[in-house]
Amino acid sequence: MKTKVAVNASSGKMGQQVINQTISNANADLVAALCRPNHRLLGRQVRYTDIYYSSNLDESLQQSEVVVDFSLPEGTLQLLKTALITSTPVLVGTTGFSAEQLNVLKTASKKIPILLAPNTSIGVNSTLALLSMAAKMLGKKADIEIIESHHKHKLDAPSGTAIRMGEAIAEAMNENFDDLKVTDSRFDKRSRKKGEIGMSVIRAGEIIGEHKVLFALDNEIISIEHKAQNRLCFAEGAVSAAVWLASQPAGFYTMQDFLASN
Ligand SMILES: NC(=O)c1ccc[n+]([C@@H]2O[C@H](COP(=O)([O-])OP(=O)(O)OC[C@H]3O[C@@H](n4cnc5c(N)ncnc54)[C@H](OP(=O)(O)O)[C@@H]3O)[C@@H](O)[C@H]2O)c1
Repeated sequence: MKTKVAVNASSGKMGQQVINQTISNANADLVAALCRPNHRLLGRQVRYTDIYYSSNLDESLQQSEVVVDFSLPEGTLQLLKTALITSTPVLVGTTGFSAEQLNVLKTASKKIPILLAPNTSIGVNSTLALLSMAAKMLGKKADIEIIESHHKHKLDAPSGTAIRMGEAIAEAMNENFDDLKVTDSRFDKRSRKKGEIGMSVIRAGEIIGEHKVLFALDNEIISIEHKAQNRLCFAEGAVSAAVWLASQPAGFYTMQDFLASN
């Protein structure tokens, strides 16, 4: 049986990719494509399907077994209100949540399954395991810098993926990421302190998403890098994880939970 998938923010760059991926995934069935009210896509047919773009959250979620969301934090929280009423699992690919907004997601996960993934690509999630390994071996000796590059339209910085990478590195070193991260060291006019995790951000052109982590020793540098070649890598992982999420009990999940189940 195919899993009935609704796509929120379907007008966005990721929303469009998730629609295409849902249509081509053998285990998924696109049942709703959601847009904001008054969007120019409303009422139009989604290519290669008999689905029409809609802004009716309630009706769309009632027809769905899971909803995939790549929007903005406000959009996710609005979706969540309806998902709680219709008991629909939510895969959240949106990034940039405040601590308060994250708490809203965590509280909702007591009632419905929620998977929060600042990066849904299988490659990035494998990279997290490599970073953990490198941090265990080199973390205490090396200067660590996370350098992320994205397109000029991206609103949040550093990226959710860069933050998740920093957390994975800090966890492997038995440290708290918030105590180690430095986002503005270049402007402080001071030399680098031991143990800091530097965060560098580039916003330019149409870069889809690149993350490089340097472990710099005095005489050599180890570099671990992931480059998204296109948005399909995010959409593929998101739809596969959404199909899995649809059959999970209420709870707060990550991509690691999905990958560990396979
Ligand atoms: N997890 C991952 O692997 C991954 C990968 C790539 C991107 N992302 C994240 O996914 C999100 C979307 O990225 P994108 O590149 O697709 O951006 P985008 O092209 O700007 O699309 C944003 C989408 O969100 C909708 N939206 C904005 N505010 C909303 C609101 N208040 N309520 C409902 N919908 C709202 C927009 O609708 P309109 O068309 O009406 O403006 C649009 O459909 C970002 O947070 C980005 O960082 C995550």
